Amino acid sequence: MNPLVGAPVDRVDGRLKVTGAATYSAEVALPNLAYGVMVLSSTASGSVAAIDVAAARRAPGVIDVMTSRNAPRVDAKSKGAGDRTLMVLQDDVVYYDRQPIAVVIADTFEHATDAASLVRARYAKAAAITRFDDAAEYKPGAGGRDPDLRKGDASAALAQAAVKVDHTYVVPVEHHNPMEPHATVAQWDGDRLTVYEATQGVVSARRKLAQVFGLPPTGVRVVAKFIGGGFGGKGTLWSHAVLAAMSAKLVGRPVKIALTRPQMFGSVGFRPRTVQRVALGAAADGRLTSLVHETSAQTSVFDEFMAGTGALSAVLYGTPNLTITHRLRRVNSATPTFMRAPGESCGSFALESAMDELAYAVGVDPIELRLRNDTDVDAQGLPFSSRALRQCLEQGAERFGWSRRDPRPRSMRDGRMLVGMGVAAATYPTHRSPASALVQVRADGSATVRSAGVDIGTGAYTVFTQVAAEALGLPVARVRMELGDSAFPNAPNAGGSTLTASAGSAIKLAALDARAKLLALAGNDPAALAGGADAIAALLRRAGLATLEGHSDAKPGDEQQKYAMHSFGAQFAEVRVDPDLGTVRVARFVNAFGAGRILNEKTAKSQFLGGAVWGIGMALLEDTRYDERTGRIMNANLAEYLVPVNADVPAVESIIVPEDDPHVNEIGVKGIGEIGIVGAAAAIANAVYHATGTRVRELPITPEKLLG
Ligand code: MOS
Repeated sequence: MNPLVGAPVDRVDGRLKVTGAATYSAEVALPNLAYGVMVLSSTASGSVAAIDVAAARRAPGVIDVMTSRNAPRVDAKSKGAGDRTLMVLQDDVVYYDRQPIAVVIADTFEHATDAASLVRARYAKAAAITRFDDAAEYKPGAGGRDPDLRKGDASAALAQAAVKVDHTYVVPVEHHNPMEPHATVAQWDGDRLTVYEATQGVVSARRKLAQVFGLPPTGVRVVAKFIGGGFGGKGTLWSHAVLAAMSAKLVGRPVKIALTRPQMFGSVGFRPRTVQRVALGAAADGRLTSLVHETSAQTSVFDEFMAGTGALSAVLYGTPNLTITHRLRRVNSATPTFMRAPGESCGSFALESAMDELAYAVGVDPIELRLRNDTDVDAQGLPFSSRALRQCLEQGAERFGWSRRDPRPRSMRDGRMLVGMGVAAATYPTHRSPASALVQVRADGSATVRSAGVDIGTGAYTVFTQVAAEALGLPVARVRMELGDSAFPNAPNAGGSTLTASAGSAIKLAALDARAKLLALAGNDPAALAGGADAIAALLRRAGLATLEGHSDAKPGDEQQKYAMHSFGAQFAEVRVDPDLGTVRVARFVNAFGAGRILNEKTAKSQFLGGAVWGIGMALLEDTRYDERTGRIMNANLAEYLVPVNADVPAVESIIVPEDDPHVNEIGVKGIGEIGIVGAAAAIANAVYHATGTRVRELPITPEKLLG
């Protein structure tokens, strides 16, 4: 077998992207295209009492203005799993600041933007809950799932523990800010709807659009060929996409709605604020006797979103007594959503900061503390299908030079700069969903492979090409991968780190199906296929076939019942803190992951690098600020909402711990899109504590918190 899988193959779509030939949703050019621009509310609660669109209607180039008065009626209420409640002009109620209240449709984006500024709304204002702390806490029950997990008696064990740490950790609201903002181009052809959508999943977007417009799924086609980053923000269908399709219906022309950067802080989801209590009880040697992880998280007043923030506390360490709870608070904001490792990113900041605090309380090295609490089973007693936490900690420590660390806080310096070294552990679950694939082998010895899966920038085009090429016995250059069209075989969202495991398995099985048919043509003589493309071409010609197809419908088996399946990792950060200014620079970053089979070392390391960059943003910079008087976001732009730039990011070294897990799926992958951020912020926060002796438990770690 040629060793294509695993090789650091260059991105097959790289040339298209750097030459601008890759077309993103906002760039789709259709004849007679009109441009929609949303008008957003300027109050966080109440209703639109009156809306004056006369001036907007008279403005140059305006085709129509859509408000609740003339908007087509749609089903905005029904919801499938993972859907968010849409705000699509079916009534006048306002639940959050920057909620869409009208769409101006014009012949150009500039005309629509100008006219949108002329719309005047008068509100009947109602009291808004703008402060998280003012909102009542409740236990979510959606989907019939218990958000809590209890084993033993964690509070009794905590009370009796020889050593304990018990603190509260806060992660603020963060916004995704992918390079490509959301954009939708919608076109009707009679009752058939085609939507070019910046989405992580064309099949789920099709399902939702069909439901909203009362169409059969076959009446809707969703296309997403190239996506400039999703991070969960493009994992559900948002109001603007439906508004684009409604606008197109209203004016009888295709309509594009492309969000501006400030609108990316509007109705499209974000990471909810979380307040977590983590209490650890341990014996004198640091072995955990109790772990309490209680999360209170933000949701909206009209919708419910909950991430499994505490879930990793059932996975990372063994403890006889465990309590994990999740509660929500309703505030007048848009509805939060998935954002890169939705639960684990925040949960790991709390748990892995607490583990660092416990290491100091016990007086044991933080890596040794984690190794002493390593476990072979999860909290439900299921064995791990594979678990490389120890290897990640050990290999990472070696590469990072952990042994050079003087454990005493504020003990290491570089000139006048305080130096700190921090570590954190990481884990992320491995799931898969049903997926299908189609492989067409042609008489010229090339192949086309189709899956509805979307490449959101991770390298899916490339790794799927590798998987198919290897199974077919063809070189990468002879395989053409086609993705991102709901007309192609079913695939789940590029989310939850599941697409590669799901669609990749289907692609492998479809390619093996084609290979088996080729072998049958060859009289089951493998030697007849040994010549690769030329041999396959000759075989099809002899058989008089123009094409030969392989199919597969792949789905998970009962492996989730038998094994706990997770990736594991370790994060190491070195920081320099200016003792006078309180500024923190990350000077070095090393991470190590055991994440099953790595299909492409180059694209995989890009994911791990991206996770570290996100960790730096989470630890030091990202913070969506609300005006508590109005519920309005005050920094809805990239000048005031800070993300890491190149100068903030040091060299990041990523170690791949080889792992051969036969249980997870046909291609042995665990998924790598999200684990890179898990624990990254905690490693930096722990390094800051080591450098300064100041423990910051509310992100981001800003100079005022260090100097305060
Ligand atoms: Mo990921 S936050 O499930 O796209």
